[in-house]
Amino acid sequence: MRVLSGIQPSGRLHIGNYFGAMRQHLQLQAENDCFYFIADYHALTSNPSPADVAQHTLDVTMDYVALGLDTEKTVFWRQSDVPEVTELTWLLSCVTPMGLLQRCTSYKDKIAQGLSPNHGLFAYPVLQAADILIYKSDLVPVGADQKQHIEVTRDIAIRFNNAYGEVFTVPDEHIIESVAVVPGTDGQKMSKSYGNTIEIFEPEDSVRKKIMRIVTDSTPVEQPKDPDKCNVFALLKLVASADELGEWDSRYRSGGMGYSEAKKRLAELLVDYFKPYRQKRVDLENDIGHVKDLLADGARRAKAVAAKTLAEARKAVGLGACYG
Ligand code: ADP
Ligand code: TRP
Repeated sequence: MRVLSGIQPSGRLHIGNYFGAMRQHLQLQAENDCFYFIADYHALTSNPSPADVAQHTLDVTMDYVALGLDTEKTVFWRQSDVPEVTELTWLLSCVTPMGLLQRCTSYKDKIAQGLSPNHGLFAYPVLQAADILIYKSDLVPVGADQKQHIEVTRDIAIRFNNAYGEVFTVPDEHIIESVAVVPGTDGQKMSKSYGNTIEIFEPEDSVRKKIMRIVTDSTPVEQPKDPDKCNVFALLKLVASADELGEWDSRYRSGGMGYSEAKKRLAELLVDYFKPYRQKRVDLENDIGHVKDLLADGARRAKAVAAKTLAEARKAVGLGACYG
């Protein structure tokens, strides 16, 4: 099955990205034909600095490869290295009703967060549809926040196919629901935009310090505590074994345990969890030439597929017909 997903290059990835998306992307590699890319065209909708676009692209690549992305098997590339996708975006735009985009909540959310209402932000779902359709993807694993974009993609694919013939595969969405939202150190959703993240590869000391500062309530040590309302416990769930988690659950509920004990154990488990990948991340950082080669190879493989689909779509709408 062709599985495709994209991630924006918005900085070094955090453990919310890992448990919410990357881990599933990596697991899907074993049994599928995976296509994963860095959505740098999409990132431009929030007007990042040029230096950041370039650096963050490399950071995301190194994070993925260090954590086990198999670049031999999986096609991994930078979206903008295959500009065919922007031409397809135009063809799709011409069958996309305005109302479909006006209903998208992510546009409204981003404006509410203070982003400028530019056309790219409004047309964002059409570019995303082009990403998915140009690679004839069957399955698109994304977080729940992206569900609407996949529905828009399906709608656009059906409209295009109805108008011009069966060019596109209508994809299924695959909402990653195996973990709830990972909380950040302040208890809100962990997100780069809230400054509350724990990066996957930040120095171990800094991971420990951030964990010790996680916000908890002020229940005194001796009193029972509700694990389901605790940010530390929510993170323990991601890294502790089922047995150990059961023990913490009863220790919380019976009282006599301070949050700092749970935090110390969480720091130990989290540091251990990512330890096996750290050296690889350092090695990649020391060989940026190799990282760029990996992206170039991915782009070459992605382009071969994209160019073929684009040619079919161009032909279907009548472009180039006068040349035979
Ligand atoms: P951020 O909010 O830090 O900018 P993104 O929006 O770039 O993160 O998210 C990239 C991927 O990681 C998405 O698939 C998203 O669903 C997932 N993700 C991000 N933050 C979390 C979180 N706190 N918990 C679970 N999944 C998350
Ligand atoms: N919009 C997605 C996000 O912000 C990233 C993305 C771009 C994507 N194109 C895609 C995800 C195609 C899946 C398929 O997370």
